[in-house]
Amino acid sequence: MEAPPIDKVPADSSVTLAHIMSEHDTNLYGTVHGGAVMRLVDDAAAAAAGRHAGCPAVTVSVDAMSFLAPVRAGDLLSVRARVEWAGRTSMAVGVDVTAERWNSSGPTAQVATARLTFVAIDADGAPRVVPGLCPETPEERRRFEEVAAKRLRR
Ligand SMILES: CC(C)(COP(=O)(O)OP(=O)(O)OC[C@H]1O[C@@H](n2cnc3c(N)ncnc32)[C@H](O)[C@@H]1OP(=O)(O)O)[C@@H](O)C(=O)NCCC(=O)NCCS
Repeated sequence: MEAPPIDKVPADSSVTLAHIMSEHDTNLYGTVHGGAVMRLVDDAAAAAAGRHAGCPAVTVSVDAMSFLAPVRAGDLLSVRARVEWAGRTSMAVGVDVTAERWNSSGPTAQVATARLTFVAIDADGAPRVVPGLCPETPEERRRFEEVAAKRLRR
């Protein structure tokens, strides 16, 4: 029988992707499509979930997604994802997106925030057991409890 996976902390799997948005990502209003940002969010979250699980993980739900400020071509986005909660085969991943504005010395702005659920899968595409998550900081513990309470209500 396979040994149960060893627990991990959020820092073991957190990921930050950086991407400069281009004019190909913009809509008719000259700002970046929400879908282009969502793609980056899903990519970063999948990388964090896969790191935690130690195997591929697929998106099963987008639990929350908020766009807080417009993004424009030339902005440098940093997409930071960390596992916030782990169940038997599923993981909740929180994502924060910040923008360094092109052609501006203004402050970095938070432009989006999201939480997604992933399921680890084996070679046959069936759910696979993931390591437990041990939150370390007060903020990590707060997020862990928040997701756990939502899962209980679901
Ligand atoms: C992921 C997949 C294999 C899960 O199969 P399933 O038969 O639903 O599996 P289960 O019912 O055993 O659920 C597995 C886990 O996912 C969780 N889960 C399933 N659907 C969920 C949802 N909509 N939201 C949150 N969690 C969900 C379950 O609670 C369970 O978690 P746990 O093991 O931590 O307790 C299957 O749904 C699938 O292949 N979906 C498509 C995924 C995909 O292709 N994503 C990319 C989008 S293009």
